[in-house]
Amino acid sequence: MALANRSLVIVDDLSNGEIEALFSLADEMSGSMDEQFGVCHGKIMASLFFEPSTRTRLSFETAMHRLGGSVISAVDVRATSLAKGESIADMARVVGSYADIIVIRHPWEGAAKVVADYAGVPVINAGDGSHEHPTQTLCDLYTIRKERQTIKGLKIALWGDLKYGRAIHSLTYGLARFGATILFRPGPGLELPEHVIRKLTTEYGGELKRYEAQDQPVKREPFPLDAIYITPSSPHQLAMMPDVSIQVELKTGVDALYVTRLQMERLSARAKRQGLKESYPVVDKKLLKEKEFKRTLVMHPLPRIDELAYEVDADPRSMYFKQAARGVPVRMALVAFLLGTKEISVSREGDSFIPKIDYPVYRRDFGIRCPNPRCVSTQETETKYIKPEFKIVSSQPLTLRCVYCEHEVYPQYIASSEWHDGTLENKKYHSAASHWTRRIKPENLIIFDSQSEAEVHGFKPSHYARVGH
Ligand code: NCD
Repeated sequence: MALANRSLVIVDDLSNGEIEALFSLADEMSGSMDEQFGVCHGKIMASLFFEPSTRTRLSFETAMHRLGGSVISAVDVRATSLAKGESIADMARVVGSYADIIVIRHPWEGAAKVVADYAGVPVINAGDGSHEHPTQTLCDLYTIRKERQTIKGLKIALWGDLKYGRAIHSLTYGLARFGATILFRPGPGLELPEHVIRKLTTEYGGELKRYEAQDQPVKREPFPLDAIYITPSSPHQLAMMPDVSIQVELKTGVDALYVTRLQMERLSARAKRQGLKESYPVVDKKLLKEKEFKRTLVMHPLPRIDELAYEVDADPRSMYFKQAARGVPVRMALVAFLLGTKEISVSREGDSFIPKIDYPVYRRDFGIRCPNPRCVSTQETETKYIKPEFKIVSSQPLTLRCVYCEHEVYPQYIASSEWHDGTLENKKYHSAASHWTRRIKPENLIIFDSQSEAEVHGFKPSHYARVGH
């Protein structure tokens, strides 16, 4: 299995076996840091950080320096031609002609995919809006593995902003793939997005049990769980004991508590006024006195704001500074693999897991656009060359997943491109809830986000155009 010349945009770009091999190389490199100089001699890494960063950028740059390579960087959009209205694709082409590998952080979701599509060199996503942050997940999984020797079967609680936290989204997928049980403890209004839940339950094959307020035993006040994800190795465990499961899950202890800050910069003005900051849960000494946290690793991708008390730092359970330090060997291993300066050797068995369902693809330049305002495909500079593209992840109800930001769309109207081999009267659109959604072949499907959009394209309502038909 070669990793050379591939990109890492989402966690699922790497198989479990490749991640394991990367961890072995990171172990080897951290044990002999001084001998790595020369591994990437003569190679250039472009470090493009268009959002604030301390750890991710500096650990990538440290990694490349330790490997004997060089770094070119841009850390402010206003100092690049993007500020003049240049597209991400053009920037990617140009930077790809200067550097051997690109690391990019950008506020638009899906931006790293566009860079990877156009750069012609390996691209590493260092965080794209609230979409994914796969290398943070590598550091997190590496830390759990180092401290607990395995990930399979562990109980990991994710705490805080599960809605906007890209580190959370990538970690959720990573933990599910390595067989952990995940306990979700969101701040109010900051639950895991629907598209992340769908991926978990369809692609990773596990089971999600959601808790309603009445399921919460009164004593659980500091740790009210929202949902638990159980991996496929024990899929019916929760279903068999629906009422006691929350106590059972917590009684045996939590292996790691992954705390995250409120992603203030991603909140809408309305959400900012909703007092999310005031009601945000805090991890402190008192919480960690509860018996389920006796042996818990306290993790955080950092930066922290108020959600993790400084009094925890001296506690041997605190892991966050170790996590950050381990970012260097992990990123050294990744860069060396993607540049092909180190060969990867992956056991066949371990390599098996990359979740893959071949969903039909929907790609037309009219009819429907991704509704996510932070998606790269909807930005004015990018719509000139990016065609909206979706995976049809369900036909009942019709559900599309944007290939850039992975947000879901639930379109209301559809038609067939085969209308014209009849007469003009056949140019009809239907409700997406009607039987036509299954009748029309995916390659002929035309999807509209509104009736007016269908009518602009000359389609008339059929008997089945009423929503809910
Ligand atoms: C995270 C990020 O940027 O998403 N930080 C990091 O990379 N260490 C988490 C955060 O900013 O909250």
